[in-house]
Amino acid sequence: MEAQPGSLVLINGEVVTPDRAVVSVHDRGFLYGDSIFEVLRTYDRKPYALAEHVERLFQSAGRVAIDMPVSRQALEAEILSAVAQTSGAGELVVRVQITRGIGPLGLDPTLAREPLRVILVEPIVLPHADDYRKGIGVVLVQTERTTDNTPAAGAKVANYLVSLLALREAYAKGAKEAIIVDGRGRVLEGTTSNVFVVKDKVILTPPESEGILPGITRIGLLEAAAAINSPVRITTLTRGDLSSADEVFISSTVREVLPVVRIDGEPVAAGEPGPVTRAVHTQFRKGAGLPMRMPWQEPSLGPLRPGGLGK
Ligand code: PDD
Repeated sequence: MEAQPGSLVLINGEVVTPDRAVVSVHDRGFLYGDSIFEVLRTYDRKPYALAEHVERLFQSAGRVAIDMPVSRQALEAEILSAVAQTSGAGELVVRVQITRGIGPLGLDPTLAREPLRVILVEPIVLPHADDYRKGIGVVLVQTERTTDNTPAAGAKVANYLVSLLALREAYAKGAKEAIIVDGRGRVLEGTTSNVFVVKDKVILTPPESEGILPGITRIGLLEAAAAINSPVRITTLTRGDLSSADEVFISSTVREVLPVVRIDGEPVAAGEPGPVTRAVHTQFRKGAGLPMRMPWQEPSLGPLRPGGLGK
């Protein structure tokens, strides 16, 4: 059974056909969410920020005491090989998942024998062009995720149950993302994005110390802001910062930058994408040597898939 065009699965480095793309019911990622992952995307079929994503995966592994089964170099080579072996010509999203592996039932992490390594390559699913052109709505959800305020904070663990319930709430209200607010009222990040506020031309975004995912795109945007002398302040964000913002935007590998123009149904300032959002997004692409036709300039192609984003 052939893989779909633009799709490929590797299990422990071996390409497997869709009918053999299965993992054991004794795998701890399945049983306990005992797993970490990364999501990369390609530009011109080249994985973007490959070394940074692999390094973050190793950081995540360290925070949850999973012994990585291959070196950084070997994993980078494997991801490059997976992309090279994937048919078709479109851009791809690559999900790299590591579980602690299989073993007898029991929470004791030492029961696992060998970590499992899975690479999923799929055609990228991008937001609708209008989301870039007009911006999106988000909702605020007060909740605590699996790793919040724990030693594993900041690790990209594969247990997104709390976040997917927050996203379900967003979709139910016609919004495209949920922004997580923790028990102390701190605005942290989206379910799969980092969050930024612009106030009086200054870009504000929460510190990594608050347990947010240290986003690869976030880093690129902070570099872009510096390159265009757009002032930045890394600081705790509150609901009040959002409601009094001149601009709000979110960032992630797949979306890059999406303007946020409504929060809980209320407009952000004039209710349209702001100039700082556009400028820092443009510079992000320029600084990274990426295609310079900005997503909000694309014709409205209609959604590739209504609602959510490929992950
Ligand atoms: N990660 N915060 C969270 C909780 C995320 O899941 C993501 C997205 C981000 C943005 O990080 P980055 O710029 O490195 O993609 C922030 C991947 C893309 C995902 O889960 O889809």
